[in-house]
Amino acid sequence: VEKVKIAILGFGNVGTGVWKILKENKKEIMKRSNYEIEVTKILVKHIDKRRDITVSNEILTDNIDDIINDESIKIVVELIGGKDDAKEYMIRAMRAKKHIVTANKLVIANWSKELFKIAEQENVLFYYEASVAGGIPIIREINESLTANRIEQIIGIVNGTTNYILSKMTIDGISFHEALKEAQEKGYAEADPTSDVDGFDAVYKLAIMASLSFGTKVDQACIYREGIRNISNIDIACAKKFGYTIKLLAIAKEENHKLELRVHPTLVPSTHPLANVNDVFNAILIKGNAVGELMLYGKGAGDLPTGSAVVGDIISILRNNVKPSDISDLNDDLDFKEVINSEENQSEFYIRLNINDKAGVLGDIATILGKNDVSIISVTKDVNHQAKAPLAFITHKSSEKNITISLEKIKLLENVNSIESILRIESFD
Ligand code: HSE
Repeated sequence: VEKVKIAILGFGNVGTGVWKILKENKKEIMKRSNYEIEVTKILVKHIDKRRDITVSNEILTDNIDDIINDESIKIVVELIGGKDDAKEYMIRAMRAKKHIVTANKLVIANWSKELFKIAEQENVLFYYEASVAGGIPIIREINESLTANRIEQIIGIVNGTTNYILSKMTIDGISFHEALKEAQEKGYAEADPTSDVDGFDAVYKLAIMASLSFGTKVDQACIYREGIRNISNIDIACAKKFGYTIKLLAIAKEENHKLELRVHPTLVPSTHPLANVNDVFNAILIKGNAVGELMLYGKGAGDLPTGSAVVGDIISILRNNVKPSDISDLNDDLDFKEVINSEENQSEFYIRLNINDKAGVLGDIATILGKNDVSIISVTKDVNHQAKAPLAFITHKSSEKNITISLEKIKLLENVNSIESILRIESFD
């Protein structure tokens, strides 16, 4: 068996996961790839930092040139995250004729075109399975197994951190901040958890999945985004009364050549499989016109699950048995598709107000909604609060525009103190 030398950039959570898998499953990996993989260099910020795993100091380097200039290194695994350095190092590595494996959704969602062009020019392979939904093999699924289909919808829980937070708030009743802290301790969160909590991470992942599925380059800037920062335990309780569970969903739909793309906290019917995806688990529901509905479920973050996707990519490169066909798909601008403005999207809505519990207020609210073509399905009122009561209701399908116009007027009613939350409901039709 021949030896192949590889380098890992970054030795954080995922980097150490990759290291552990290469060691633990060495025999199987050798059999499957026909190579003995040797990690000869690992790029770290601080060589002397205390680590849980012992790695010889000869392997560690804080100088990227040690890797780029080493001709014996054939594959560079980029796991430092972030954008500028990661992108620059990948470009330099490709120029030095090294294949790339990355888990970097931010860079792929924004600069796939540039990077894949260089990969083509340099005749190197570029793999990024771990960039979307950690251990779930979604990129291969879309690029290989489902190529017979026209994909109509992708609806997924693709951020482990926010799913962990929402599940803990729902099941254990703990606060947002406590749950975030736990997710960080477990190594799920990005270095800057804003990326998770405010939905950016899910946006990047959706941009990648939608580009591959719809054969058009989806600009992440066109994706409507809303995070989970404002979700309170009260909303979770009210949603439950209506039969829903709150999840951060990434939604992409194509109808008549138009795309609907959004990431936001969503009320999911509690009986739907996606409502029961908890903790760090991710799940992606795909609707293809031949296969019908298909759901993938697995761990969306963490050292070993994400490492599993990374090492799988390394093995694919060594086998060289999969053409990186995805490259053209991610870059194709030929098939232009219009993205529908989120205001035009039709959804059922969940709305929670703070009202003074006086006679007639409910009637006034319903009248305003009715005048704007919004009809109410169900209402719940917390009668335990005396003077100021939370009032939550859900509507039939309406456009966001009509909801906004109605709420502008409702806000002015004498007995309405505030509009506390407006969330969309996904009815999976
Ligand atoms: N922070 C990400 C998440 C890691 O929580 O899903 C995996 O991309």
